[in-house]
Amino acid sequence: MLMKVVILAAGKGTRMRSSLPKVLQPLAGKTLLQHVVDTAKELNAEQILTVVGHQSHLVEEAMADQGVDFVAQTEQLGTGHAVQQAIPEIADNDTVLVLYGDVPLTAKNTLEDLLSSVSDEHPLALLTINLDNPTGYGRIVRDQHLAVQAIVEQKDANPEQLQITEVNTGILAAKGAQLKSWLSQLESNNAQGEFYLTDIIAMSVADGFAVQTTQPESEIEVLGVNDKCQLQALERQYQLQLADELMVQGATIIDASRLDIRGTVEVASDVQIDVNVVLENTVKLGENVSIGANCVLKNVEVAANSVIHPFSHLEDCVVGKNVNIGPYARLRPGTELADEVRIGNFVETKKAKIGKGSKVNHLSYVGDTLMGEGCNIGAGSITCNYDGVNKHQTVIGNKVFVGSDSQLVAPVEIGDGATIGAGSTITKDSPAGELTLSRSKQVTLKGWQKPVKK
Ligand code: UD1
Ligand code: MG
Repeated sequence: MLMKVVILAAGKGTRMRSSLPKVLQPLAGKTLLQHVVDTAKELNAEQILTVVGHQSHLVEEAMADQGVDFVAQTEQLGTGHAVQQAIPEIADNDTVLVLYGDVPLTAKNTLEDLLSSVSDEHPLALLTINLDNPTGYGRIVRDQHLAVQAIVEQKDANPEQLQITEVNTGILAAKGAQLKSWLSQLESNNAQGEFYLTDIIAMSVADGFAVQTTQPESEIEVLGVNDKCQLQALERQYQLQLADELMVQGATIIDASRLDIRGTVEVASDVQIDVNVVLENTVKLGENVSIGANCVLKNVEVAANSVIHPFSHLEDCVVGKNVNIGPYARLRPGTELADEVRIGNFVETKKAKIGKGSKVNHLSYVGDTLMGEGCNIGAGSITCNYDGVNKHQTVIGNKVFVGSDSQLVAPVEIGDGATIGAGSTITKDSPAGELTLSRSKQVTLKGWQKPVKK
């Protein structure tokens, strides 16, 4: 038996008021559609068929590397019509799971439950939920034995049916053979003049197949997004859920409502995260790591006991143990800090490997640099790595002392134990163990008079 997923993503999403198609709007740093595709992949779907229509080229472009197949629905004639477009790809013996490109957070186990309730005897299963306020949703109509009879859309429902609180989430699973036969019988004689996917429920009942229903654990799993307000609300709700997961792993989060996770975060015990922190892509934080307020970390690994002080920005970096960074540090891609390194305020690094215990404490730029252990780079020192055309490497040995306000003009090498006098412009290799400086001699003009105002 093969399981195929059909994702409906052809709708216009008018209420988003955006040039970006609705299913490409971001939730926690990932498009809505990507969330759904990732879930389909977790379910080991044989094929993922995405029904596209409105701005389909943008959707196809965004998902080009995802291994999904696209099915065009040129006119949006309803959810039933949308699924019909995928039918040529469906074999009788397949099980089909219908998901929605704008319902991003359905849990894998919820869908596994739904899929396991489909069989030859029960070729149709629905995901339903009870809502305090069912307005807008299709209502699940049951008979006196609680068997599902039909789904009635809000616009087609009578006053009695409008009282029903069990609603259709839209998500369903069906056997290919029956699904094909039911879809071919759909008509559009309803309030919206659309081919409703939901009409297959009554057809299943008429064919003598009792419709199975399962429910998700939490409402967030079936929430759809139609406008920017709902997008924001879902984002916050989801972020709180992600923060909870980190706290369960042992992280101390000062305020879960002021943390944003846009990727995968791994934390060891006693990690502390202060307010307004954004974690993107893949972030790994070792035991007892502390992230100060207003830091952004994107694709970063930080080993145990390191402290990142407030307002620091790190991207594509590896940070060792017992490292101190910031406040106000910017670590750009390719920065690798060994254990016990200290990077102070207003320091920028890029493609820089900095050895154990080295310190760059104030207002420096260190780029395209290989630095040894135990160095001290004075305030305002700069590696001049760019000649306007090419980038060049600076190599600094172990236990080097660079006096403040020095420029190391790459390519250049500073030997082990060398000292560079403050204010030097170093253009040639500087030997190990020696003091090198380039500085014009200091003079005092005795008796010099300040000018007087005329
Ligand atoms: C649908 C269900 C309703 C359910 C609700 C849950 C039907 C007839 N109704 O109603 O019972 O309670 O979802 O949110 O199925 N789409 C296409 N092509 C189309 C039409 C829709 O791809 O021709 C896509 C839309 O982009 C959207 C999804 O299908 O992502 C649902 O369509 P929508 O029109 O919003 O259905 P609802 O009226 O919300
Ligand atoms: Mg809808």
